[in-house]
Amino acid sequence: MAKKKASSRAGQTYRIAVIPGDGTGPEVVREGLKVLETVAETVGIRYETTEFDFSGARYLARGGDPAMPSIPVITEEDIARLKTFDAIYLGAVGDPKVAPGILEKGLLLRLRFELDQYINLRPVRLYPNVPCPLVGKGPKDVDFIVVRENTEGIYTGMGGVQYQGTPQEVSTQINCTTRFGAERAIRYAFEFCRRRNNPKRMVTLVHKTNVLTFAGGTWFRAFQEIGQEYPDIKKDYNHVDACCMWFVKNPEYYDVIVTDNIFGDIITDLAAIIQGGLGVAAGGNLNPGGLSMFEPMGGSAPKYTGQNVINPIAAIAAVGMLLRETGTHRGDKKLVDAGDRVERAILATTPKMKSQAAGRMGYSTTEVGDLVAEAVRKTA
Ligand code: IPM
Ligand code: MN
Repeated sequence: MAKKKASSRAGQTYRIAVIPGDGTGPEVVREGLKVLETVAETVGIRYETTEFDFSGARYLARGGDPAMPSIPVITEEDIARLKTFDAIYLGAVGDPKVAPGILEKGLLLRLRFELDQYINLRPVRLYPNVPCPLVGKGPKDVDFIVVRENTEGIYTGMGGVQYQGTPQEVSTQINCTTRFGAERAIRYAFEFCRRRNNPKRMVTLVHKTNVLTFAGGTWFRAFQEIGQEYPDIKKDYNHVDACCMWFVKNPEYYDVIVTDNIFGDIITDLAAIIQGGLGVAAGGNLNPGGLSMFEPMGGSAPKYTGQNVINPIAAIAAVGMLLRETGTHRGDKKLVDAGDRVERAILATTPKMKSQAAGRMGYSTTEVGDLVAEAVRKTA
């Protein structure tokens, strides 16, 4: 954050923390880094990477209990070290040998919360020649952005369980919603909509205000009030259940969506399948003023691990986002251009692939990485 002047950027070396993580994470990250190296060479960007071995394997090797969280998956010192970087590139979190929740909460959610990555940005874009499960829909129909609030809602872990294991068992999971949290997500969405400059120029708030009247009310009021600062942008609202229906029926309706944490989690998986599957969906956990983390959405895919068959396109798209978002927030046009270049190289590569599904691409993981790297060199 200290580096402010554009002129001082020419020689700046960006420092990227790389967390390959579990399962197929390391395989796809390798291809992402291959493309990063190529685009950095082509455009003239200086960067260095440092690898962190945070993973299920490390947790177990350090004596972590596979059944319940017994030691921190990452420590305070790990987080302090990460904070010195310009961006984080994450492969995947999730190990079948470790009970669900331990790594997700101990690594991914912990980083989102501790680094205050309050935006989860999910571009939903159907690449050329990628089959869409929606009959009659093509790339021009599936092209929108979901801005998911990433630090609140029912993800905070507030609540508890009492009388566990008895017939009287009772649990609460609190939907922690703050005006502050809703407001910053909404503002980000409006600003993003302006930058994106799609002719639709519309932000859709997605919630469930007819039932969640308290939390929904906070979101709705914030949306209406902040919306007044953006007279050039259309304001729209969908209930989350209706939104799911519209994703399938009329995805071309959407431009930018803003929503809370859990609704965003759910609708972005639905969105991933209409953009061609988890092999292509990338996301960013953003702290726009600080340290952001970029990841493919596919997870660790244990059954494909080590076979060189997993699709690296999502991980490569995450590199594109890392460059574009870091460039945007640092005011470094070269980085933004590099991100756009990665995106164009993906657009040139997907038509060559037989499928976006693991094992059916017509190419191996490494070969797809090579194709994108080659396209980066060729596409101006
Ligand atoms: C995602 C993932 C995570 C989430 C899990 C792994 C905790 O599903 O990024 O969407 O629910 O946020
Ligand atoms: Mn999810």
